[in-house]
Amino acid sequence: MTPPAAPNGRLAVFPGSFDPLTNGHVDIILRSAHLFERVIVAVLVNTEKQPLFTADERIAIVREVFREYPNVEVDTFDGLLVEYARQRRASAIVRGLRAVSDFEYEFQMALMNRHLEPALETVFMMPAEQYTYLSSRLIKEVFHLGGEVHGLVPPAVERWLREKSAVGSRQ
Ligand code: PNS
Repeated sequence: MTPPAAPNGRLAVFPGSFDPLTNGHVDIILRSAHLFERVIVAVLVNTEKQPLFTADERIAIVREVFREYPNVEVDTFDGLLVEYARQRRASAIVRGLRAVSDFEYEFQMALMNRHLEPALETVFMMPAEQYTYLSSRLIKEVFHLGGEVHGLVPPAVERWLREKSAVGSRQ
């Protein structure tokens, strides 16, 4: 068996469901793109919850938002994150920390990932304060109930949300 190639110290993976991408995610991706030579936004295909956006839609959104950032790549993954990171030779996983409430889940995940792959480091980043209350779940709920999400998600996401609700109301 060939040993895995050495990880690339300048390559990070930012994994998530991105259902949908929020300005909080965008903030973290931009910070990562400054810190690392290359960032892979890794969209989890089979989430436990039924996603609103298909994997292709979630990818199209990230691609559109970061089309002018050559060091931001979008990809999908399934199965174990550490396995995906190993295949891509990434040396770090980036996760955003919004509040203390995120900590326990993120801490557990980071330590489990370290147990599975000790060479892979998890790097936490804080988004700008105005995004600390944002989550994809809340965006979907607020939009669904007729609330304003302008400024909380990229324009591409607003457009897709409107499109989805128009299709839904025609059915
Ligand atoms: O945006 P999310 O939904 O908080 O992202 C969670 C994600 C995708 C990072 C996490 O569910 C994950 O890594 N899933 C892949 C399966 C895996 O590796 N599980 C063990 C993690 S300790």
